[in-house]
Amino acid sequence: MKRICPSILNADRSNLAAEIARISEQSDMLHLDVMDNIFVPNLTFDLLESTKIISDSALPVDAHLMIADPDEQAHLFAKAGAASVTFHFEASLDPRATINRIHDQGSRVGIALKPATDFVNIAPYLDQIDMVLIMTVEPGFGGQSFMENMMPKVAQARREIDSKHLGKIWLQVDGGISLETISKANEAGADTFVAGSAVFKASNPGEMVDLLRAAANSN
Ligand code: DX5
Ligand code: ZN
Repeated sequence: MKRICPSILNADRSNLAAEIARISEQSDMLHLDVMDNIFVPNLTFDLLESTKIISDSALPVDAHLMIADPDEQAHLFAKAGAASVTFHFEASLDPRATINRIHDQGSRVGIALKPATDFVNIAPYLDQIDMVLIMTVEPGFGGQSFMENMMPKVAQARREIDSKHLGKIWLQVDGGISLETISKANEAGADTFVAGSAVFKASNPGEMVDLLRAAANSN
């Protein structure tokens, strides 16, 4: 099963409810990019704004935390009702404890990897998590070019997930996903796709979600 998770990073922030309504019926989850201007050079939604988006959203929220202190903060997003909370491996001093604190709130847990971080780093945590996020751009901004050179890492993650019978783990890609690039990520083994600009710059965002899903299901 393939999942499409639109990112509202580059949606019209002054009218978020209407923007979310444009993709709600077609999408699996709403991808929420939380940035603290420390882990990445950009500031987006804080916990308070995220809490409001989570409570207003008809879609389950997939929170992607690009923050410097996930060990302290990540479980608060779970407590706020995010269906899934993903934190960056690079920012965590104690991934195991952070995973447990998120799970204790009843949310799914993902671990994200920046382009320069090898997959092998998170192998010890695979038996505990629900999703792996391989970044296909440097985290921080929407609208960047898809890094095709991340495909071997996606394929490695897919092999590892399948060979350890951990097929229950979702394999997500985030950054530069469009109708042109989604099939490459799909062929490499991703099953969960974040798309920001491709969706919200389309004249009909809901239809674009359907087209992306069809492209992901076509091979
Ligand atoms: C980048 C974010 C992405 C971003 C994707 O740091 O994690 O979720 O919104 O945007 P596009 O699809 O435009 O690359
Ligand atoms: Zn993201």
